[in-house]
Amino acid sequence: MKGIILHGGHGTRLRPLTHTGPKQLLPIANKPMSQYALEDLKISGITEIGIIIGDVYPEKVKEYYGTGEKFGVKITYIYQDTPKGISHAIRLCKDFIDDDKFVVYLGDNVLRKNLIDYTKKFQTSDSDAMILLCEVDEPQRFGIAELDKNKHGKIKKIMEKPKNPPSNLAVIGIYFLTSKIFDIIDNLKPSWRGELEITDALDMLMNQGNKIEYNTVTGWWKDTGTPEDIIHANKLVLDSIGTENQFLIDTDTEIKDNIVIGKGTEISRDSFITGPVIIGKNCKIGPSVRIGPYVSIGDNCKLQQCEIQDSIIMADCTVNAKVDFSCSIIAHGSEIEDSNIPKKHQFLLGERSQLKL
Ligand code: DAU
Repeated sequence: MKGIILHGGHGTRLRPLTHTGPKQLLPIANKPMSQYALEDLKISGITEIGIIIGDVYPEKVKEYYGTGEKFGVKITYIYQDTPKGISHAIRLCKDFIDDDKFVVYLGDNVLRKNLIDYTKKFQTSDSDAMILLCEVDEPQRFGIAELDKNKHGKIKKIMEKPKNPPSNLAVIGIYFLTSKIFDIIDNLKPSWRGELEITDALDMLMNQGNKIEYNTVTGWWKDTGTPEDIIHANKLVLDSIGTENQFLIDTDTEIKDNIVIGKGTEISRDSFITGPVIIGKNCKIGPSVRIGPYVSIGDNCKLQQCEIQDSIIMADCTVNAKVDFSCSIIAHGSEIEDSNIPKKHQFLLGERSQLKL
């Protein structure tokens, strides 16, 4: 089986963070979110992976993943000039897939439980597609499956972001497919949002008498479309520290209870860390810093006097200020300095922002 990771799109809901790179490279617990997809495919035995890159800094994706060798996989890059939809991106992979079965993983989806069992099931199944469903609170935000009440295990309809959802079962962004999907996509029409939708392709595949099976996922699944989603995903991943370290496979770290600290990081004696927290390499924390819970700090950060909860601070940031902030994302190389008035803040800072309070 082969794998495809979607790494294109514009990420408009994540601006200014996506002004300087694709959203799928934004870190969750100090690892680009698409790396969770890649590692999930790899542990399911899928090592031939196509990555769809778009026009938002595609060179940064190539620079990070390279040939894939570092990650134990073989990567082929497939270029999508404009984000004309998930089905459009999949159609570009026809030559790469050939006649294999394959898994498409949206690069901004993170799943708690790995894909091993689902992959095995699809490999031996005679289904033409397999989808994963997850109960959600806001079904209007997702592709939705309506199950057939009269036939157990059958799907009646699959639709994209319905205004009046017939169920709360979201179709998550991991699709098990066969090469039958390519002919279907050739006959698709763009949706109201101008995209070739994966949900329309699946619905058409089903209506033409092909077999689609579904599984309901256990554990959490996160689509990281907004800054709030990213902060929530960070929390969910950090919660797994110390119990299952499936998400944290970095050898240069020390893990104590639910706190992960990278090599070369110094923490002053008068600073307090309350896990779950991850701190990268070569950071200087202190004096008088309080971090946690649910904070990820990238490599080479310098933090003094501040209090941080529920936040992501990317690499090379400096905070030298009496600030107390939470639910924030601070992108690479940003600086926050000089405050004499302790106050509670919330920040969404793009790369190299400078904030003097
Ligand atoms: O996350 C699950 C949802 O993902 C599903 O429930 C929906 O049915 C599915 O359409 C999709 O909805 P989104 O609106 O969240 O999709 P988004 O536009 O955010 O794109 C998903 C990922 O695919 C994202 O990482 C960007 C990438 N992408 C998207 C498009 C439209 C591409 O690489 N190329 C594209 O043309």
